[in-house]
Amino acid sequence: MSPSAMPLEFTTGSCDSRPRTLIEGIAARIPSRIKLATKLVAFHAKAPIHQLTVENILGGMRGAPSIVWEISETDSSGVKYHGRTLRQLEEDLPKWGNSKQLSPEAMLWYLYTASVPTQAELKQFAADLVSRCELPKDVTDFLDNLPVNLSPIVHMNMGLTVLAQHSKLMKALAKGARKEELWKFALEDALDATGRIPTLVARIHSNIYRQGCDRDATLDLSADLAQNFAIRMGRSCDINFVELTRLAWVLHQDHGANVSAHTMRLVSSALTDPYSTLSAGLIAGSGTLHAMAIHNSVDFNKNMTSALGPNPTDQDIENYVLKCIASGQILPGYGHAVLRVVDPRLEWIYRFVADHPAPLPESGVHPVLLELIQRANMIVPDLLRVHLPKIKNPAPNVDALSGSTMHTYGLDVDFILPFMACGRAMGFLAQSVWDKALGLPIERPLSITMDGLLAKLQSNA
Ligand SMILES: CC(C)(COP(=O)(O)OP(=O)(O)OC[C@H]1O[C@@H](n2cnc3c(N)ncnc32)[C@H](O)[C@@H]1OP(=O)(O)O)[C@@H](O)C(=O)NCCC(=O)NCCS
Repeated sequence: MSPSAMPLEFTTGSCDSRPRTLIEGIAARIPSRIKLATKLVAFHAKAPIHQLTVENILGGMRGAPSIVWEISETDSSGVKYHGRTLRQLEEDLPKWGNSKQLSPEAMLWYLYTASVPTQAELKQFAADLVSRCELPKDVTDFLDNLPVNLSPIVHMNMGLTVLAQHSKLMKALAKGARKEELWKFALEDALDATGRIPTLVARIHSNIYRQGCDRDATLDLSADLAQNFAIRMGRSCDINFVELTRLAWVLHQDHGANVSAHTMRLVSSALTDPYSTLSAGLIAGSGTLHAMAIHNSVDFNKNMTSALGPNPTDQDIENYVLKCIASGQILPGYGHAVLRVVDPRLEWIYRFVADHPAPLPESGVHPVLLELIQRANMIVPDLLRVHLPKIKNPAPNVDALSGSTMHTYGLDVDFILPFMACGRAMGFLAQSVWDKALGLPIERPLSITMDGLLAKLQSNA
């Protein structure tokens, strides 16, 4: 099902003047996608598309194309969303009001429908999401009574687990909903969750860092999710923060079947409710090699700044990094399991930093941090290439700068992962609705022992 092999169906809105609703946009696309899935099964079910090697199996399934992912495709050069790069989407997708950043809602609409929303559709969609932002009372009561010495990730996981009882999909399943109808309930849940998660995360921030301030501040129904998130974060007038939120939620929305997305896919394939599914994704993301790298990269960069002072030479940076490599340390923010180029998403962070004046040092962040990281991003790849030749891609990935940018613009380091998880959750939910629309089955690969592998090789010889 490679996008290059199938006709792309791009539309730019409805033929009548009324804006489409998202459910109409998705419903319009379902027949052609089901037709394609049916054709693949009917005519090509046993056709080989990849020769599975021992390397694929021992290498954590690297290189084995085995997960259908409708909303995007990642290869060594970057992500394509329904066949389009982020750069193309920047031109094609409508922006929100006076914002200069990509709009998370426009991107989401596009991921769900493979079509570009009109301004009216974007507005209507955002209003629908914001109308779903408020958390149920049992959830706010629960969150407000959690010990504040627990980390934001623990709060978020627990909050999601409590939200699970509000799943409409679970209620529909309990009443015996038919398989063909499940996507509509999954969509309702997905939209509820897309609205609720930023509010959940802002409430956690308020409870842990701000003694509950603004956690019930009045939402602006005419604004987008990022602006409403800022209201609940007590930063409604901080336009840089709102813009960074929009950007971060787009950049982290989808990246194919990486660890957190794949985890969520696996969990939801068993018809688990979406909130517990997101919780599983958050846990997967807290691994050092995956999303936690965004947090670790801030620590790495801060340590480098403290060690080198405000005016290091390139040679100072090189010596510092060489020591880290020699000590066997993982350099967070460098390397990638699939990309073989500089992560294209980094360009947007560089641009954001260049276009938005960083807050004053009273934010507690060392003022040279972002400048130093950008210099290091130029120096480190060559050092890795020479001194760590086993690394397949020594280039920086988006986490090399994104976390430190979020921190510089006012986010506490241990809050960066939940903040970024808002975007990842939104993107995955779009995929999960398509899983149901296509009736994809529970994931169940076969496992094999190494002795089994050897036996197969010997029987093939
Ligand atoms: C992303 C990552 C997990 C990909 O792993 P991968 O697919 O195994 O990458 P490679 O095939 O290039 O790894 C080959 C070797 O180089 C090492 N390596 C890769 N990136 C490295 C880094 N940034 N620092 C130090 N060593 C690294 C690997 O650990 C591996 O060592 P091993 O053979 O002893 O196990 C890896 O590059 C990494 O750990 N990066 C730092 C964490 C990070 O930024 N994650 C976010 C990614 S978006």
